[in-house]
Amino acid sequence: MAITQKDLPHLSEREKVMPTKKVFVKTYGCQMNVYDSERMIEALAPVGFDETTSIEDADVIVLNTCHIREKAAEKVYSELGRIRQVKLARQAEGKRTTIAVAGCVAQAEGQEIIDRAKVVDVVVGPQSYQQLPSLIFEAETQGRKIVKLDFPERDKFQDLPKRTKPRQASAFLTVQEGCDKFCTFCVVPYTRGMEFSRSVGDIVQEARSLVEQGVRELTLLGQNVNAYHGEGAGGNSQSLAQLLAALGEIDDLHRLRYTTSHPNDMSDDLIEAHRSNSKLMPYLHLPFQAGSDRILAAMNRKHTATAYRSLISRIRVARPDLALSTDIIVGFPGETEAEFAETLAMVEDIGFAQAYSFKYSPRPGTPASMLEDHVPEAVQTERLHRLQALLEGQQSSFNASCVGQVMPVLFERAGRDTGQLVGRSPYLQAVHANASETLLGGIHPVEISIANRHSLTGVVL
Ligand code: SAH
Ligand code: SF4
Ligand code: F3S
Repeated sequence: MAITQKDLPHLSEREKVMPTKKVFVKTYGCQMNVYDSERMIEALAPVGFDETTSIEDADVIVLNTCHIREKAAEKVYSELGRIRQVKLARQAEGKRTTIAVAGCVAQAEGQEIIDRAKVVDVVVGPQSYQQLPSLIFEAETQGRKIVKLDFPERDKFQDLPKRTKPRQASAFLTVQEGCDKFCTFCVVPYTRGMEFSRSVGDIVQEARSLVEQGVRELTLLGQNVNAYHGEGAGGNSQSLAQLLAALGEIDDLHRLRYTTSHPNDMSDDLIEAHRSNSKLMPYLHLPFQAGSDRILAAMNRKHTATAYRSLISRIRVARPDLALSTDIIVGFPGETEAEFAETLAMVEDIGFAQAYSFKYSPRPGTPASMLEDHVPEAVQTERLHRLQALLEGQQSSFNASCVGQVMPVLFERAGRDTGQLVGRSPYLQAVHANASETLLGGIHPVEISIANRHSLTGVVL
């Protein structure tokens, strides 16, 4: 198709091309990648692409990748091996397939990806994917490999088309991107770049267009979302609490969430918002990473275990029923058994409704990867098992405490069994209930009857 992105502004709604090609997108990693994948599909629609869930039908295959741990990055290469077979099979039928690697592995490895996997045509970083239509067009017409890893001056959101129909009543919205914290284990400051906040006006506009199309819950995304400091209408910088207040004004938007936060950016006004903003859900994901002050310092987290504990107490005063989630790393270089015990003690003391826990994985280019006193894999594994047993126990008892309660549930999608819908409680638990499809996209009272480890089952009242 001889349409490049440059031509797009000249196409009116009526003139936009009918879909003639298919794109398959596979997403790895965090919620921001989920959001970015949706935006990539939206960016490709005006040049004639429709999304497909069948890889064999795809004219363009995009892998939106994650570099956070070694396993995540390696998955991409095994997938590219499988994709090579798909490309060859399609070639035998006379069909062309263009392969793009996007996301954080693209940013971290660039040209290396093409050297290692010749099947790849386009490598595009998280700040350049708005150019995907023209990059694909160039690769196809010029038959050459393209690597695009710029951090352009102009924010990419300005060049993305308007939001099209969201799939569910709950949607993600990126409000902040990048990170300047430089935790010593983490690749994100290198793959996503420096902290950047979108303006309040832009975000409210995107939120309104999502709400007009049926969205009732928004999760604001950022690698450091509570460091948000976007420009407000008067040109002043606005905090996340102020942004949440502005979004709270949108009538048909009923629920607000945000993720992921850094403890040091939990400002007083944000804590207060957990008391006063009635649309802000009683759930907070706040990583603490480790319970030992020596490890926290080696991680460059810039807070102590005591500071985390007292922060949680303050937030719980503002919102007593707050459900907490966290991220924890075990086996950071040099972590002793006694230091790991401090991580267990933190979990015991705080009590988490759910959590993510990981074995430390050295990442190329990060300061921690130069440290030598590695914790042996077997010790990491054993510590992770002990930690996860404790966390799963806490999750089970939190879920069990919900039995008998009536909770407002936002139904998002059909369940596995016929006649069943799945939604989310205010505390982000998945809730299954028998319900008519007409309830999809709305918030309904559900009496919880069964608690499972990772979900709840209930009856619609
Ligand atoms: N922006 C988020 C974290 C993004 S990465 C924040 O600051 O909290 C998600 C989680 O992956 C981190 O919280 C951390 O627990 C984990 N993680 C990051 N780098 C890691 C590494 N090198 N090894 C193991 N886990 C890691
Ligand atoms: Fe990574 Fe730390 Fe930034 Fe989170 S705060 S994205 S863990 S560097
Ligand atoms: Fe992974 Fe990049 Fe997200 S490394 S966790 S996809 S910011």
